[in-house]
Amino acid sequence: MKKYLVNIKQLTGIQEDISKLKLKGKEMGILHSIDNAYLEIENGLIAGFGKMANLPEINDSETIDCSGKIVLPAWCDSHTHLVFAGTRETEFVDRINGLTYEEIAARGGGIINSAKRLQSASEEELYQAAWTRLEEIKSYGTGAVEIKSGYGLSLDAELKILRVIKRLKADSDLTIKSTFLGAHAVPPEFKGNKDGYLDMLIDKVLPIIKEENLADYIDIFCETNYFTVADAERIMEAGTKYGLQSKIHVNQFTSIGGIQAGIKHNALSLDHLEVMTDQDITDLHTSETMPTALPSCSFFLKIPFAPVRKMIDEGLAIALATDYNPGSTPSGKIPFVISLACIYQRLTPEEAINAVTMNSAYAMGISDTHGSITVGKKANLIITKEISSYNYIPYAFGGNHVERVVLG
Ligand code: NIG
Ligand code: FE
Repeated sequence: MKKYLVNIKQLTGIQEDISKLKLKGKEMGILHSIDNAYLEIENGLIAGFGKMANLPEINDSETIDCSGKIVLPAWCDSHTHLVFAGTRETEFVDRINGLTYEEIAARGGGIINSAKRLQSASEEELYQAAWTRLEEIKSYGTGAVEIKSGYGLSLDAELKILRVIKRLKADSDLTIKSTFLGAHAVPPEFKGNKDGYLDMLIDKVLPIIKEENLADYIDIFCETNYFTVADAERIMEAGTKYGLQSKIHVNQFTSIGGIQAGIKHNALSLDHLEVMTDQDITDLHTSETMPTALPSCSFFLKIPFAPVRKMIDEGLAIALATDYNPGSTPSGKIPFVISLACIYQRLTPEEAINAVTMNSAYAMGISDTHGSITVGKKANLIITKEISSYNYIPYAFGGNHVERVVLG
Protein backbone atom coordinates (compact mmCIF):
# COMPACT_ATOMS: atom_id res chain seq x y z
CA MET A 1 0.00 0.00 0.00
CA LYS A 2 1.07 3.54 -0.69
CA LYS A 3 1.37 6.23 1.93
CA TYR A 4 1.29 9.96 1.32
CA LEU A 5 2.63 12.83 3.36
CA VAL A 6 0.45 15.75 2.33
CA ASN A 7 0.29 19.53 2.85
CA ILE A 8 3.99 19.61 3.75
CA LYS A 9 4.88 23.23 4.43
CA GLN A 10 8.36 22.58 3.05
CA LEU A 11 9.97 19.39 1.77
CA THR A 12 13.74 19.87 1.95
CA GLY A 13 16.96 17.95 1.37
CA ILE A 14 15.93 16.91 -2.15
CA GLN A 15 18.52 15.39 -4.51
CA GLU A 16 17.11 14.49 -7.92
CA ASP A 17 20.18 12.48 -8.94
CA ILE A 18 20.49 9.18 -7.06
CA SER A 19 24.02 8.67 -8.37
CA LYS A 20 25.23 11.76 -6.48
CA LEU A 21 26.85 10.31 -3.35
CA LYS A 22 28.24 13.39 -1.54
CA LEU A 23 28.27 17.18 -1.62
CA LYS A 24 31.46 19.25 -1.79
CA GLY A 25 32.32 22.90 -1.16
CA LYS A 26 29.64 25.28 -2.49
CA GLU A 27 27.21 22.40 -3.15
CA MET A 28 26.94 22.01 0.61
CA GLY A 29 25.34 25.45 0.87
CA ILE A 30 22.26 24.42 -1.10
CA LEU A 31 19.24 22.54 0.28
CA HIS A 32 16.82 21.89 -2.57
CA SER A 33 13.26 22.39 -1.34
CA ILE A 34 9.63 22.41 -2.47
CA ASP A 35 7.03 24.47 -0.60
CA ASN A 36 3.51 23.10 -0.12
CA ALA A 37 4.54 19.61 -1.14
CA TYR A 38 3.50 15.98 -1.00
CA LEU A 39 5.66 12.86 -0.72
CA GLU A 40 4.68 9.34 -1.75
CA ILE A 41 6.03 6.22 0.00
CA GLU A 42 5.71 2.71 -1.41
CA ASN A 43 7.24 -0.43 0.11
CA GLY A 44 9.33 1.65 2.47
CA LEU A 45 10.91 3.68 -0.33
CA ILE A 46 10.37 7.22 -1.54
CA ALA A 47 8.24 6.72 -4.65
CA GLY A 48 7.59 10.34 -5.65
CA PHE A 49 7.16 13.92 -4.48
CA GLY A 50 6.12 17.28 -5.82
CA LYS A 51 3.85 20.26 -5.38
CA MET A 52 0.48 19.60 -3.70
CA ALA A 53 -1.14 20.93 -6.88
CA ASN A 54 0.26 17.87 -8.68
CA LEU A 55 -0.79 15.30 -6.08
CA PRO A 56 -1.97 12.13 -7.85
CA GLU A 57 -5.45 10.82 -7.16
CA ILE A 58 -5.30 9.01 -3.83
CA ASN A 59 -7.57 5.98 -3.50
CA ASP A 60 -7.50 3.89 -0.43
CA SER A 61 -4.09 5.18 0.68
CA GLU A 62 -2.98 6.28 4.09
CA THR A 63 -2.19 9.98 4.38
CA ILE A 64 -0.30 11.89 7.03
CA ASP A 65 -1.15 15.57 7.21
CA CYS A 66 1.98 17.73 7.56
CA SER A 67 0.39 21.19 7.61
CA GLY A 68 2.80 23.75 9.06
CA LYS A 69 5.57 21.13 9.25
CA ILE A 70 8.86 20.58 7.48
CA VAL A 71 9.85 17.17 6.13
CA LEU A 72 13.51 16.33 5.65
CA PRO A 73 15.74 13.24 5.48
CA ALA A 74 16.36 11.60 8.86
CA TRP A 75 19.82 12.27 10.27
CA CYS A 76 22.63 9.77 9.68
CA ASP A 77 25.00 9.69 12.66
CA SER A 78 28.17 8.22 11.16
CA HIS A 79 30.32 8.08 14.33
CA THR A 80 29.17 6.77 17.72
CA HIS A 81 30.34 4.45 20.49
CA LEU A 82 26.87 3.96 21.95
CA VAL A 83 27.35 0.46 23.36
CA PHE A 84 28.90 1.20 26.75
CA ALA A 85 28.46 0.40 30.44
CA GLY A 86 28.35 3.06 33.12
CA THR A 87 28.96 6.78 32.90
CA ARG A 88 32.00 8.94 33.74
CA GLU A 89 30.71 12.06 35.45
CA THR A 90 33.51 11.80 38.06
CA GLU A 91 35.98 12.58 35.27
CA PHE A 92 33.74 15.43 34.16
CA VAL A 93 34.08 16.97 37.62
CA ASP A 94 37.85 16.23 37.61
CA ARG A 95 38.15 18.28 34.42
CA ILE A 96 36.19 21.16 35.94
CA ASN A 97 38.73 21.04 38.76
CA GLY A 98 41.61 21.41 36.32
CA LEU A 99 42.72 17.98 35.10
CA THR A 100 43.03 17.45 31.34
CA TYR A 101 41.53 14.55 29.35
CA GLU A 102 45.08 13.22 28.82
CA GLU A 103 45.92 13.46 32.55
CA ILE A 104 42.76 11.57 33.50
CA ALA A 105 43.60 8.85 30.96
CA ALA A 106 47.16 8.59 32.32
CA ARG A 107 45.72 7.90 35.81
CA GLY A 108 43.73 4.91 34.53
CA GLY A 109 40.56 6.83 33.81
CA GLY A 110 39.25 7.39 30.33
CA ILE A 111 38.82 4.52 27.91
CA ILE A 112 40.40 2.00 30.33
CA ASN A 113 37.86 2.98 33.00
CA SER A 114 34.99 2.34 30.56
CA ALA A 115 36.54 -0.97 29.47
CA LYS A 116 36.68 -2.28 33.07
CA ARG A 117 32.99 -1.59 33.51
CA LEU A 118 32.05 -3.04 30.17
CA GLN A 119 33.97 -6.26 30.75
CA SER A 120 31.84 -7.04 33.81
CA ALA A 121 28.51 -6.15 32.17
CA SER A 122 26.41 -8.90 30.59
CA GLU A 123 25.51 -8.90 26.90
CA GLU A 124 21.86 -8.44 27.87
CA GLU A 125 22.60 -5.39 30.05
CA LEU A 126 24.61 -3.80 27.25
CA TYR A 127 21.87 -4.54 24.74
CA GLN A 128 19.14 -2.99 26.92
CA ALA A 129 21.17 0.15 27.64
CA ALA A 130 22.09 0.59 23.98
CA TRP A 131 18.46 0.02 22.95
CA THR A 132 17.37 2.87 25.22
CA ARG A 133 20.01 5.13 23.62
CA LEU A 134 18.84 4.16 20.13
CA GLU A 135 15.26 5.06 21.01
CA GLU A 136 16.43 8.39 22.40
CA ILE A 137 18.48 9.37 19.34
CA LYS A 138 15.60 8.33 17.11
CA SER A 139 13.31 10.71 18.99
CA TYR A 140 15.71 13.51 17.99
CA GLY A 141 15.58 12.51 14.32
CA THR A 142 18.36 9.97 13.78
CA GLY A 143 17.40 7.23 11.34
CA ALA A 144 20.80 5.62 10.70
CA VAL A 145 23.76 5.19 13.01
CA GLU A 146 27.26 3.76 12.98
CA ILE A 147 28.27 2.07 16.23
CA LYS A 148 31.85 1.18 17.21
CA SER A 149 33.22 -1.40 19.59
CA GLY A 150 36.31 -0.25 21.51
CA TYR A 151 35.28 -0.32 25.16
CA GLY A 152 35.98 -4.06 25.41
CA LEU A 153 39.77 -4.20 24.85
CA SER A 154 39.86 -7.99 25.16
CA LEU A 155 38.87 -10.74 22.75
CA ASP A 156 35.73 -11.65 24.69
CA ALA A 157 34.60 -8.12 25.47
CA GLU A 158 35.17 -6.75 21.97
CA LEU A 159 33.16 -9.66 20.53
CA LYS A 160 30.47 -9.07 23.16
CA ILE A 161 30.00 -5.49 21.94
CA LEU A 162 29.98 -6.50 18.29
CA ARG A 163 27.37 -9.19 18.99
CA VAL A 164 25.22 -6.61 20.76
CA ILE A 165 25.47 -4.36 17.68
CA LYS A 166 24.51 -7.32 15.47
CA ARG A 167 21.39 -7.89 17.60
CA LEU A 168 20.53 -4.18 17.45
CA LYS A 169 20.83 -4.32 13.65
CA ALA A 170 18.36 -7.19 13.53
CA ASP A 171 15.87 -5.73 16.00
CA SER A 172 15.88 -1.97 15.38
CA ASP A 173 14.21 -0.06 12.57
CA LEU A 174 17.24 2.25 12.44
CA THR A 175 19.83 1.45 9.77
CA ILE A 176 22.97 0.39 11.67
CA LYS A 177 26.60 -0.06 10.60
CA SER A 178 29.14 -1.75 12.86
CA THR A 179 32.81 -0.80 13.28
CA PHE A 180 35.55 -2.80 15.01
CA LEU A 181 37.63 -0.44 17.18
CA GLY A 182 39.66 -2.94 19.20
CA ALA A 183 42.64 -0.56 18.83
CA HIS A 184 41.05 2.16 20.97
CA ALA A 185 43.64 1.99 23.80
CA VAL A 186 46.23 -0.53 25.00
CA PRO A 187 44.65 -2.46 27.92
CA PRO A 188 46.61 -2.82 31.21
CA GLU A 189 47.23 -6.56 30.52
CA PHE A 190 49.30 -5.54 27.49
CA LYS A 191 51.13 -2.60 29.08
CA GLY A 192 54.51 -2.27 27.36
CA ASN A 193 53.41 -4.78 24.73
CA LYS A 194 51.31 -2.80 22.30
CA ASP A 195 52.43 -4.99 19.39
CA GLY A 196 51.23 -8.06 21.26
CA TYR A 197 47.82 -6.44 21.66
CA LEU A 198 47.64 -5.58 17.95
CA ASP A 199 48.74 -9.15 17.11
CA MET A 200 45.85 -10.46 19.20
CA LEU A 201 43.33 -8.16 17.49
CA ILE A 202 44.57 -9.11 14.03
CA ASP A 203 45.28 -12.83 14.49
CA LYS A 204 42.48 -13.79 16.91
CA VAL A 205 39.63 -11.27 16.81
CA LEU A 206 39.45 -10.42 13.09
CA PRO A 207 38.98 -14.06 11.94
CA ILE A 208 36.00 -14.45 14.32
CA ILE A 209 34.56 -11.12 13.14
CA LYS A 210 34.70 -12.41 9.59
CA GLU A 211 33.24 -15.80 10.45
CA GLU A 212 30.30 -14.30 12.36
CA ASN A 213 29.93 -11.25 10.08
CA LEU A 214 30.26 -8.88 13.04
CA ALA A 215 31.62 -5.69 11.47
CA ASP A 216 31.34 -3.49 8.39
CA TYR A 217 34.33 -1.22 9.08
CA ILE A 218 37.57 -1.04 11.08
CA ASP A 219 38.86 1.85 13.20
CA ILE A 220 41.90 2.80 15.34
CA PHE A 221 42.60 5.74 17.66
CA CYS A 222 45.65 7.16 15.84
CA GLU A 223 46.95 9.67 18.40
CA THR A 224 49.98 10.54 20.52
CA ASN A 225 50.08 8.18 23.56
CA TYR A 226 47.58 5.80 21.92
CA PHE A 227 48.45 4.30 18.51
CA THR A 228 51.06 5.47 16.00
CA VAL A 229 50.70 5.96 12.27
CA ALA A 230 52.57 2.66 11.77
CA ASP A 231 50.00 0.93 14.04
CA ALA A 232 47.19 2.53 12.04
CA GLU A 233 48.71 1.27 8.79
CA ARG A 234 48.91 -2.25 10.24
CA ILE A 235 45.28 -2.20 11.34
CA MET A 236 44.04 -0.74 8.05
CA GLU A 237 46.00 -3.32 6.06
CA ALA A 238 44.55 -6.12 8.18
CA GLY A 239 41.08 -4.62 7.73
CA THR A 240 41.52 -4.56 3.96
CA LYS A 241 42.53 -8.22 4.05
CA TYR A 242 39.26 -9.03 5.84
CA GLY A 243 37.12 -6.79 3.61
CA LEU A 244 36.70 -4.03 6.20
CA GLN A 245 37.23 -0.51 4.92
CA SER A 246 38.59 1.90 7.53
CA LYS A 247 37.05 4.87 9.32
CA ILE A 248 39.69 6.15 11.70
CA HIS A 249 40.12 8.56 14.62
CA VAL A 250 42.79 11.13 13.63
CA ASN A 251 44.01 14.60 14.63
CA GLN A 252 41.95 14.90 17.83
CA PHE A 253 44.82 16.32 19.89
CA THR A 254 47.86 16.20 17.58
CA SER A 255 48.61 16.02 13.86
CA ILE A 256 50.93 13.03 13.44
CA GLY A 257 50.23 11.79 9.91
CA GLY A 258 47.02 9.83 10.45
CA ILE A 259 45.31 11.71 7.63
CA GLN A 260 48.00 10.79 5.11
CA ALA A 261 47.92 7.14 6.25
CA GLY A 262 44.12 7.06 5.98
CA ILE A 263 44.24 8.50 2.46
CA LYS A 264 46.89 5.93 1.47
CA HIS A 265 44.72 3.08 2.74
CA ASN A 266 41.50 4.35 1.15
CA ALA A 267 39.69 5.20 4.41
CA LEU A 268 35.97 5.80 3.98
CA SER A 269 36.11 8.59 6.55
CA LEU A 270 38.67 10.41 8.70
CA ASP A 271 37.14 11.58 11.93
CA HIS A 272 37.74 14.27 14.63
CA LEU A 273 40.14 16.72 12.84
CA GLU A 274 40.28 19.22 15.73
CA VAL A 275 44.00 19.86 15.09
CA MET A 276 44.77 20.30 11.38
CA THR A 277 47.84 21.62 9.58
CA ASP A 278 47.51 23.34 6.20
CA GLN A 279 49.22 20.30 4.69
CA ASP A 280 46.57 17.98 6.21
CA ILE A 281 43.84 20.03 4.55
CA THR A 282 45.68 20.16 1.23
CA ASP A 283 46.18 16.39 1.24
CA LEU A 284 42.46 15.74 1.75
CA HIS A 285 41.85 17.14 -1.75
CA THR A 286 43.60 14.10 -3.22
CA SER A 287 41.15 11.63 -1.70
CA GLU A 288 37.54 10.39 -1.79
CA THR A 289 37.51 10.01 2.01
CA MET A 290 34.89 11.94 4.00
CA PRO A 291 36.43 14.36 6.54
CA THR A 292 34.17 14.15 9.59
CA ALA A 293 34.01 16.63 12.45
CA LEU A 294 32.51 15.97 15.88
CA PRO A 295 31.56 19.37 17.33
CA SER A 296 29.83 18.05 20.45
CA CYS A 297 33.13 16.40 21.44
CA SER A 298 34.92 19.77 21.05
CA PHE A 299 32.17 21.40 23.12
CA PHE A 300 32.28 18.84 25.93
CA LEU A 301 36.10 18.58 26.21
CA LYS A 302 36.60 22.29 25.47
CA ILE A 303 39.11 21.49 22.76
CA PRO A 304 39.35 23.27 19.38
CA PHE A 305 36.56 22.85 16.82
CA ALA A 306 37.66 21.32 13.51
CA PRO A 307 38.36 24.06 10.90
CA VAL A 308 35.49 23.00 8.67
CA ARG A 309 34.61 26.53 7.47
CA LYS A 310 38.03 26.78 5.84
CA MET A 311 37.77 23.24 4.49
CA ILE A 312 34.38 23.83 2.84
CA ASP A 313 35.59 27.18 1.46
CA GLU A 314 38.46 25.29 -0.13
CA GLY A 315 35.97 22.97 -1.82
CA LEU A 316 36.07 19.91 0.43
CA ALA A 317 33.12 17.80 1.55
CA ILE A 318 32.45 17.63 5.31
CA ALA A 319 30.31 15.32 7.43
CA LEU A 320 29.29 15.93 11.02
CA ALA A 321 28.44 13.29 13.63
CA THR A 322 27.92 13.11 17.40
CA ASP A 323 30.69 10.75 18.68
CA TYR A 324 28.16 9.60 21.35
CA ASN A 325 30.30 7.91 24.07
CA PRO A 326 30.65 8.06 27.87
CA GLY A 327 34.00 9.92 27.91
CA SER A 328 34.17 12.73 25.40
CA THR A 329 30.53 13.13 24.27
CA PRO A 330 27.80 11.75 26.51
CA SER A 331 25.08 12.92 24.10
CA GLY A 332 23.79 11.64 20.77
CA LYS A 333 21.73 14.61 19.67
CA ILE A 334 22.31 15.64 16.07
CA PRO A 335 20.24 18.87 16.38
CA PHE A 336 22.73 20.08 19.00
CA VAL A 337 25.61 19.16 16.65
CA ILE A 338 23.94 21.28 13.94
CA SER A 339 23.65 24.23 16.36
CA LEU A 340 27.29 23.96 17.41
CA ALA A 341 28.46 23.76 13.79
CA CYS A 342 26.47 26.87 12.92
CA ILE A 343 27.52 28.87 15.98
CA TYR A 344 31.14 27.82 16.56
CA GLN A 345 32.20 26.67 13.09
CA ARG A 346 30.19 29.20 11.04
CA LEU A 347 28.45 26.65 8.88
CA THR A 348 25.16 27.82 7.42
CA PRO A 349 22.12 25.74 8.41
CA GLU A 350 22.11 24.34 4.83
CA GLU A 351 25.75 23.22 5.12
CA ALA A 352 25.21 21.72 8.56
CA ILE A 353 22.06 19.84 7.50
CA ASN A 354 23.81 18.45 4.39
CA ALA A 355 26.70 17.41 6.66
CA VAL A 356 24.41 15.30 8.88
CA THR A 357 22.39 13.78 6.03
CA MET A 358 24.01 13.27 2.58
CA ASN A 359 27.62 13.50 3.67
CA SER A 360 27.30 11.52 6.89
CA ALA A 361 25.40 8.87 4.89
CA TYR A 362 28.46 8.72 2.62
CA ALA A 363 30.70 8.40 5.70
CA MET A 364 28.82 5.23 6.66
CA GLY A 365 28.64 3.85 3.13
CA ILE A 366 24.89 4.26 2.67
CA SER A 367 24.47 7.45 0.62
CA ASP A 368 23.11 5.42 -2.32
CA THR A 369 20.05 4.57 -0.17
CA HIS A 370 19.92 7.21 2.60
CA GLY A 371 20.61 10.87 3.31
CA SER A 372 18.33 12.72 0.89
CA ILE A 373 14.82 13.00 -0.49
CA THR A 374 15.37 11.03 -3.70
CA VAL A 375 13.04 8.66 -5.55
CA GLY A 376 14.25 5.13 -4.84
CA LYS A 377 15.95 5.91 -1.52
CA LYS A 378 14.65 4.55 1.77
CA ALA A 379 11.82 6.62 3.24
CA ASN A 380 13.77 7.64 6.35
CA LEU A 381 12.18 10.95 7.18
CA ILE A 382 11.80 13.58 9.87
CA ILE A 383 8.47 15.34 10.24
CA THR A 384 9.10 18.41 12.39
CA LYS A 385 6.70 20.09 14.77
CA GLU A 386 5.11 23.26 13.40
CA ILE A 387 8.17 25.48 12.96
CA SER A 388 8.79 28.61 10.91
CA SER A 389 11.72 27.31 8.82
CA TYR A 390 14.57 24.80 8.96
CA ASN A 391 16.77 27.62 10.31
CA TYR A 392 14.75 27.28 13.51
CA ILE A 393 16.39 23.87 14.19
CA PRO A 394 19.91 25.24 14.94
CA TYR A 395 18.53 28.54 16.23
CA ALA A 396 16.33 27.12 18.99
CA PHE A 397 19.21 24.98 20.28
CA GLY A 398 18.73 22.24 22.82
CA GLY A 399 15.06 21.70 22.02
CA ASN A 400 13.51 18.79 20.21
CA HIS A 401 11.69 20.03 17.13
CA VAL A 402 11.03 16.56 15.74
CA GLU A 403 7.42 15.44 15.92
CA ARG A 404 7.73 12.09 14.23
CA VAL A 405 10.37 9.95 12.53
CA VAL A 406 9.28 7.66 9.69
CA LEU A 407 11.74 4.83 9.01
CA GLY A 408 10.86 2.91 5.84
O1 NIG B 1 36.09 9.55 19.87
N1 NIG B 1 39.06 9.67 21.06
C1 NIG B 1 38.84 8.49 21.17
N2 NIG B 1 37.71 7.90 21.53
C2 NIG B 1 36.50 8.56 21.94
C3 NIG B 1 36.46 8.93 23.39
C4 NIG B 1 36.98 7.90 24.27
C5 NIG B 1 36.64 8.08 25.72
O2 NIG B 1 37.07 9.06 26.36
O3 NIG B 1 35.95 7.21 26.24
C6 NIG B 1 36.27 9.76 21.06
O4 NIG B 1 36.25 10.92 21.50
FE1 FE C 1 34.98 8.54 18.58
